[in-house]
Amino acid sequence: MAPPQRLVDALHAGARITVLTGAGVSAASGVPTFRGAGGLWKTYRPEQLATPEAFARDPRLVWEWYDWRRQRVASCEPNPAHHVLAAWTRRFPHLTLITQNVDGLHERAGATRVLRMHGSIWEVGCWHGCASAPRRWRDETVPFPELPPPCPHCGGPLRPGVVWFGEPLDEQVLARCLEAAASAEVFFTVGTSSVVYPAAGLLDVARRHGALTVEINPDDTPSSEGIDVRMRERAEVALVELDRALAAG
Ligand code: OAD
Repeated sequence: MAPPQRLVDALHAGARITVLTGAGVSAASGVPTFRGAGGLWKTYRPEQLATPEAFARDPRLVWEWYDWRRQRVASCEPNPAHHVLAAWTRRFPHLTLITQNVDGLHERAGATRVLRMHGSIWEVGCWHGCASAPRRWRDETVPFPELPPPCPHCGGPLRPGVVWFGEPLDEQVLARCLEAAASAEVFFTVGTSSVVYPAAGLLDVARRHGALTVEINPDDTPSSEGIDVRMRERAEVALVELDRALAAG
């Protein structure tokens, strides 16, 4: 299905474009999504694995899950959706790429200036927030020889550098996301079920400020109604088609 011409026209070189991605963008790479068929939350319960309370109760169990996900993601490669978006971060000087994904695949595809709303599975922090450690740092050890891995500064447990349910988002990251949504001429929501806030609210911010809104998702979401351009297709197909249409002018 050819992308609508009004969308192709809106994506001119100087356009202010904001793209919000979710787990569906990494599905074709083999990274499991959270909801829907085969989604992680079908097998696991978020409150047992992705909350500060869960970590306080059983840090080893939580780390076993994150260590498994790190191993899984390490064996995955970016797919055409990541590659198109990475190319767009270089092609469009006013494009902001926001992701809820913690897998780092946008960056591995070469995307620049990625705003990670939910942190990174490749970062860790000291669970006790010890004074000698930075808040978060990169550690790509796969698998960790000891779980939970010890903080190199105080010996206490490390935690995954992701945002858990019940935790606030990084204020600066959130402020930049809101600004990118408010100033967007074109706002894409790609491969997300649009149920987790505040990420899901960015679309409303963009719409209120007059953006052309675009959803790329093979399935309907709570955001689908009221979207200006609905591309009912997988991200790795729709983005490649759109990129081809842009190249053709
Ligand atoms: P979900 O798993 O909730 O939603 C994935 C969406 O991608 C669904 O709407 C699918 O229909 C769609 N999808 C599946 N395959 C696709 C494909 N090839 N192309 C495009 N879309 C596809 O994932 P998120 O919306 O990202 O939070 O989930 C949001 C947050 O909930 C996550 O960041 C995580 C999770 O709990 C935290 O960990 C804090």
